[in-house]
Amino acid sequence: MVDVTPIVLLLGSLLAIYYLVEIFWNLLKIIRAYLAPLFLAHEESSLVKKYGSWALVTGSTDGIGKAYARELAKRGLNLILVSRNLEKLQNTQREIENLYRVKIKLIQADFSLGKKAVDLVKEEVGKLPIGILVNNVGKQYDYPMYLGEVPEEELWDIIKVNVGAVTLMCKAFIEGMALHGRGAIVNVSSGSELQPLPLMTVYAATKTYVKSFTKALQHEYASRGLTIQHLAPMFVATKMNHFSDKIYRKSLFVPDPENYAKYAVSMLGVLDDTTGYWAHGIQTFFTKLPPEAIRTYIGGYMNSLFREEYMQALKR
Ligand SMILES: NC(=O)c1ccc[n+]([C@@H]2O[C@H](COP(=O)([O-])OP(=O)(O)OC[C@H]3O[C@@H](n4cnc5c(N)ncnc54)[C@H](OP(=O)(O)O)[C@@H]3O)[C@@H](O)[C@H]2O)c1
Repeated sequence: MVDVTPIVLLLGSLLAIYYLVEIFWNLLKIIRAYLAPLFLAHEESSLVKKYGSWALVTGSTDGIGKAYARELAKRGLNLILVSRNLEKLQNTQREIENLYRVKIKLIQADFSLGKKAVDLVKEEVGKLPIGILVNNVGKQYDYPMYLGEVPEEELWDIIKVNVGAVTLMCKAFIEGMALHGRGAIVNVSSGSELQPLPLMTVYAATKTYVKSFTKALQHEYASRGLTIQHLAPMFVATKMNHFSDKIYRKSLFVPDPENYAKYAVSMLGVLDDTTGYWAHGIQTFFTKLPPEAIRTYIGGYMNSLFREEYMQALKR
């Protein structure tokens, strides 16, 4: 009988080397991404070279979207800012133009109107070549609630904004990018996609959709030169978290949007699936360790504490 031991040993060693190299390479990419904000000068304009000179950011007058847009402008990108409120859009434009010499176009659109809003954006963008599309806009409950308590209209808006807008905005621009053989799409989901999340049931479910949708798109367009990133932050201190002081106030694990965006933008083109922020990476790593049932329980318990905090604040 032929002795296959050497072949098995060889294949085993090759596999082990492959995994070690892969782990080492990913580690290098992570270190590079996390250190990048400290060496911004080297990073400047590389996004323009790689993806083109125009970026479109949805939900860009507050929180993560506004900070992300500012970081892109810092790297020389012209911006198309999309939000509902014209005055806030104009203020954001002024703020960014005072800091950086970039062109800015404003589009007033409400994504809770569904396809109508996306059609309006397409029309306003016209022939401007979008190099980077940041699907940041997102809607959350006012505070952690049971499904039966959330107004029907609000539930529908959450689905239209978190699922509908991301889907149709990708559809609107992805083929144009693919035709040019370059471009990046950043779909902002949330750490809430890691498991079912009681008291934020629909919000978390929409973010699971964003993750699945984005990761499938990565495969569809992998051979056509596009970067498609799933960006899943944990808590960031924005008005979305107004219901709890613990996650509305910044701390090591709850960065302000400016600090968050500084890291998140530096990971574009480096990591296709990321929390965007080093401390969130650590949180996500530990969150994934226990079985889903335990994570769901803990998530629901945390939300019940936030809910209690909100209710107590109302009474004061
Ligand atoms: N903050 C967090 O802890 C956290 C954690 C994980 C994931 N995220 C995700 O990150 C993204 C940004 O969240 P954020 O906390 O930065 O939100 P935010 O501070 O509440 O800002 C939301 C932005 O979206 C715009 N907007 C809201 N509804 C809109 C609509 N229907 N149509 C068009 N624009 C609309 C708002 O501007 P106007 O009012 O002017 O329209 C604002 O510019 C969301 O997808 C969210 O789910 C956030």
